[in-house]
Amino acid sequence: MKIVPGVLLAMVAVSFGPMIGSKASGASASPPVWAYGTDPNAVAHNATTQVDTGAKHLPGSTLEFTEAQIQDHFGPADWYPSDHPAMPKVVAQGRKPAIWACALCHYPNGKGKPENAGVSGFPVSYFVEQMHEFRDGQRRSADPRKKNTALMSTFAKAMTEQEIQEAAEYFGAVKWTPWITVKETDTVPKTHTSVGMYMPIPGGGTEPIGQRIIEVPADPEGTEELRNPHSGFIAYVPIRSVERGKQLVTTGSKTSACGLCHGADLKGLGPVPGIAGRSPSYLVRQLYDMQQGTRHGTWTELMKSVVKGLSQEDMLDIAAYTSSLRP
Ligand code: HEC
Ligand code: HEC
Repeated sequence: MKIVPGVLLAMVAVSFGPMIGSKASGASASPPVWAYGTDPNAVAHNATTQVDTGAKHLPGSTLEFTEAQIQDHFGPADWYPSDHPAMPKVVAQGRKPAIWACALCHYPNGKGKPENAGVSGFPVSYFVEQMHEFRDGQRRSADPRKKNTALMSTFAKAMTEQEIQEAAEYFGAVKWTPWITVKETDTVPKTHTSVGMYMPIPGGGTEPIGQRIIEVPADPEGTEELRNPHSGFIAYVPIRSVERGKQLVTTGSKTSACGLCHGADLKGLGPVPGIAGRSPSYLVRQLYDMQQGTRHGTWTELMKSVVKGLSQEDMLDIAAYTSSLRP
């Protein structure tokens, strides 16, 4: 049987009839800024303007790059070329003038960062569909201050079908492996945002976590300055959020059980993407965008009833749990 959205929806309607079309419990209309990295009060103001031209190194790599090379929008550093298959041109270099190298933001291994997305290990058809939806305006951020989502659309608009296919096949062939460490806590390091990514303020002390997930690089300098694709992230989540999320995800008490479509282990099923062990900030943005309708592609229909009744706390708990799973 070829699974198309209609068929899947029918399957779900049978098992979760009462849930579909259930009343929204009213998530607030203002986006959770911690997930979007758009809190205007958190923007870092201490960026240095000094140009560092020295050669940089990373453990386990024989290569060296300058900061300018590391951040080259049309050919960023590839520290560990033997980690991954040969990159198609559009992934490694983009195409001037409008398409930046995918590897710049998503890294050559597709791991990505919380302010963008992990893009490896997805079904090719899902990846291609997303590019079409960015292109056609069906994937916009619910927070218009999130400029890099709009950038994704300009890249998708400029890409040929062949480039989209090549990028999808390349990243689809790279496995999604553990990248995020989830830690439950009451307090988090004080942070600021640097182009949408949370960075601990050196010597800044701590503050209560509140109703937030704060995702910071395990090695802040290695991530920000060197774009080290071997160094992942720590996601600080509120105490007991993982257990609450597990209830929501596995029992289907408030919404459909996610495993029905995403696979029992949430690693993906057929054309449905995996959500295990991925960035919780990214996931919450998607749930919220889908609830607000700014993300509304063909297959997104299937998520409509799932997100409808979720509060922002529910989304946080769900993401804390799914991110804690080993992919
Ligand atoms: C400027 C940084 C940047 C570059 C360069 C970039 N992206 Fe993205 N990409 C993003 C952001 C930001 C998101 C997530 C948007 C959000 O959360 O709203 C994203 C999301 C995606 C997604 C969706 C992943 C999912 O789980 O649905 C795909 C697919 C993707 N990008 C592919 C690409 C490809 C292919 C290229 C190269 C042509 C590329 N990106 C270049 C920033 C970037
Ligand atoms: C009826 C099937 C179905 C159920 C049940 C379902 N999903 Fe989905 N989900 C999908 C499909 C299909 C997509 C791809 C949507 C698209 O193409 O835009 C998706 C996409 C997503 C995404 C975006 C992934 C990305 O990389 O951008 C997230 C996050 C997500 N689902 C979370 C959940 C959670 C959490 C649950 C349970 C509370 C859940 N889903 C239940 C079918 C489902």
